[in-house]
Amino acid sequence: MTPTSPVVDVHSHYVPHGWPDLGDACGGSGWPSLRVDSATTATIMLGEKAFRPITDACWSADQRLADMDADGVDVQVVSPTPVFFAYERTAEQAATVAGIFNDLALEITQQATDRLVPFCQVPLQDPDAACRELDRCIANGHRGVEIGNHVGDVDLDDEGVIAFLQHCATQDVPVFVHPWDMPTSPRLDRWMARWLVGMPAETHLSILALVLGGGFDRLPASLRIAFAHGGGSFAFWLGRADNAWHQRNDVVRGRSDAPPSSYVGRFSVDSVVFSEASLRLLIDTLGADRVMMGSDYPYPLGERPAGDVIRRSQLSEGVMAGILGANAIRFLGSPASS
Ligand code: CO
Repeated sequence: MTPTSPVVDVHSHYVPHGWPDLGDACGGSGWPSLRVDSATTATIMLGEKAFRPITDACWSADQRLADMDADGVDVQVVSPTPVFFAYERTAEQAATVAGIFNDLALEITQQATDRLVPFCQVPLQDPDAACRELDRCIANGHRGVEIGNHVGDVDLDDEGVIAFLQHCATQDVPVFVHPWDMPTSPRLDRWMARWLVGMPAETHLSILALVLGGGFDRLPASLRIAFAHGGGSFAFWLGRADNAWHQRNDVVRGRSDAPPSSYVGRFSVDSVVFSEASLRLLIDTLGADRVMMGSDYPYPLGERPAGDVIRRSQLSEGVMAGILGANAIRFLGSPASS
């Protein structure tokens, strides 16, 4: 199959191969560091605790490009790994961390600017600082921003977050929302349940917050915003949310002007859902132009080859081409942002 536009993967992550000691740079303790285990393997450490083993695919542009070639991917959006967001720290600390990682991201993506599209991170706990870091990054070559789906107990309908998203719309910068900081409990700490159950629930809640919290009503329709992992549980339970909006309008309506299904069309999702039935649900519920290929590369819960579920599906050639690339090209917009 030959798509009419480049094949674009909107969901991948990087980790730099080392960074300055964040305790020295920011003060405090328990910061992420990298323990290099071999030429091609390392472990992200949180303080003294191992958080995640990683490979050179996280930091090596050559390895990344070779995997993209093997998977038939032309362009990849390269986003931060959420463990580095530092939203739980002070805004000053988070801004320092964001600056360090955003600059290191450019060192990776600058090796193939036509194929590796960097998305930055921002200190979202401080909207003004977040806007400043966004502007700095866009001026330096970043093409978008990845944000976590919440800041502590603050959801995406928070006035400060809305102000940041408004700024993204004004600056014509695409936003990718990634779940993170999932609730922890003995029940959720087994079998990667925080990833298997927590992440889809977090993403579901984020979209509902923008709907029922009146976030979309306060934001321009021109905002380009996408959610990871197919939007989590949202599409599957949209009917339940609509029914609740009508049946318990006194409570569920929140600040929204219309039922949740009315806001379909205001956001996009990625395709990393692994089954054709799930992919078709997204297309049927959100629209064929609202689904974009994403892989979650290079992590083990991601899809390899990237886009496999799309290419193996029975979708029409036009729909497939849109999901593999054309929709993402619209999402990313013009690279000439200055
Ligand atoms: Co991811």
